[in-house]
Amino acid sequence: MRALIMKQFYSGLPAQLYDQFFPEIDEQELAFFIQHIEMLPAPALEIACGTGRILLPLLERGYQIEGFDASLEMLAQCRQKSEPKRLDPILYHQTMQDLELPKQYGCMFSPLGSFQQIENRDDAQKTLRNFYDHLLPGGKLVIYLHLPWHNAQTLGEWHQHESITCDDKKITVSEKLIHEPNKQKFFVSYRYDVWQKSECIAKDVKDMTIRWYSRYEFQMMLQQVGFKDIQVSSGYEDSGPFDVMLFVAQK
Ligand SMILES: C[S@@+](CC[C@H](N)C(=O)[O-])C[C@H]1O[C@@H](n2cnc3c(N)ncnc32)[C@H](O)[C@@H]1O
Repeated sequence: MRALIMKQFYSGLPAQLYDQFFPEIDEQELAFFIQHIEMLPAPALEIACGTGRILLPLLERGYQIEGFDASLEMLAQCRQKSEPKRLDPILYHQTMQDLELPKQYGCMFSPLGSFQQIENRDDAQKTLRNFYDHLLPGGKLVIYLHLPWHNAQTLGEWHQHESITCDDKKITVSEKLIHEPNKQKFFVSYRYDVWQKSECIAKDVKDMTIRWYSRYEFQMMLQQVGFKDIQVSSGYEDSGPFDVMLFVAQK
C-alpha cells in the first residue's frame, strides 16, 4: 500500500486537534449528504471519513454508513468517539488510490475536498475508476471540491489562520501558501503552536498539497470512467460561492 506510507498530513497535532476546529455539526452539510444517501441502497461509504465528524452523526441518525481513511490516528479518534455513543462503525484503513473493499455501495461521498489531496492527476483518474467499481449499478458518487486560491492570503508569507482555546491552552494555526497554477497545485504549510500561558509547549509544521480542478475538467474525468447524469452545484444549496463545487454522478 504505497500511499499508506506516504507523508501524512493528518498525524500528530493536525490529527489530534482536527475536531477542535469543528466544534459544531454543520446541519446544512449533513442535510446535503443525507438527501442522496436516503435515496440509494444502504450501506453508504464515506470516503476519507477521518475522525467521524460526519460519519458518527449519520450513524446516530440511523443511516448505515461505513468509512475508510488513510490516517490511523484519525480513525482511532473516530473509534474512540463512537464508544460512548454505543456505535460500532465499520471502518477500514485504506487509501482512496488503492481502495479495495469487499462490497459495493449505493452512495459514496467525500466531504471537504479530501479527494484533492491526491497530488497526481493520473492517480486521481485511477481513483475515480476505483470509486466507480465500488458503487452498485445506479449508485452515486457525491464529491466536494474547492478552488483553494479563491480568497487566498498573500502567497509566500506566513499568516495566522485560526486560533482556538482548549482548556488552559491556546492553539494558533498559521499557514503559508504557494500556488503553481500551471500544475493546478496549491502548496500549504501549516504551523501549529500550542501555548500555555506565554510559553510555546508544542509545535508542528506540516505540508499539504491540494490539487484543484476546473468544473468542466472534473466533469470530463467523471465521464471518462463511465459516470453519467453528472450534476454540479455551488455549495450545499447551489447559491454558495463559485469556489465550492459539489459533484453528484451516477454509475
Ligand atoms: C479534511 S479531512 C476530512 C475528514 C472527514 N471526511 C470530515 O469531513 O471531517 C481529510 C481526510 O482525508 C484523509 N486522506 C487524505 N489523503 C487520503 C488518501 N489518499 N486516502 C484516504 N484518506 C486520505 C485524511 O487522513 C483526513 O482524514
